[in-house]
Amino acid sequence: MIVTIDGPAGAGKSSAARSLAKKLGFRFLDTGAMYRSVTLEAARRKIAWEDSESLAQILEGLDLQVTDDRVLINGEDATEAIRTFDITTHTRYVADNLAIRQWMVRRQREIAAQDNFVTEGRDQATVVFPDAECKIYLTATDEVRAERRYQDLLSRGEQVTLAEVLEKQQQRDQRDRQRQFGGLCKAADSIEVSTDGLAPEEVLQKLEKIVASCRQV
Ligand code: DC
Repeated sequence: MIVTIDGPAGAGKSSAARSLAKKLGFRFLDTGAMYRSVTLEAARRKIAWEDSESLAQILEGLDLQVTDDRVLINGEDATEAIRTFDITTHTRYVADNLAIRQWMVRRQREIAAQDNFVTEGRDQATVVFPDAECKIYLTATDEVRAERRYQDLLSRGEQVTLAEVLEKQQQRDQRDRQRQFGGLCKAADSIEVSTDGLAPEEVLQKLEKIVASCRQV
């Protein structure tokens, strides 16, 4: 079975998807981590962000392992390094790249063919797994999402202000929605859940109920 969780940045997708997968005994796939990994690799290789061909060439021979809780790039643990504010700000160049998106879609389908999965991203229900048995669209207001990201970055020791995080988030939302391929949009058959004002356990309960109802269909 595949459960997809899509939605804008900071809606709480990762933690909800991870805890849902654990509860269901499914594997978890964080597809944002895959785009982030290529972004980190581009930064390390000092590739010009506008050079889409060189960005796509990163994929040649790239050993990218995204497990339930770790990300390994060519065998090196990059779990923390892909989450910095700088990498987050530059992910759009990778996410906008059609050749990279096509590679990601293929790779994500290969991974999910191996087991039951909860996958999380922007295009999971619409592009990657249009036939998924259960599709969830997770949202929250701009302010709640920015606050969540801000607290996350502070806990990682980053020097940012809430206003900065909110501004970058609004820019990223707009790009995510306007992206020509794999842009963020709710699939017609996705069930929308707002995480505003909900504790993580309450979100998890809601998601479990949705999965149970999908299983009965
Ligand atoms: O969810 P996240 O913040 O880790 O995502 C990182 C970037 O990757 C963000 O710019 C959106 C993009 N992304 C995407 O285009 N498609 C996905 N399935 C997942 C993430």
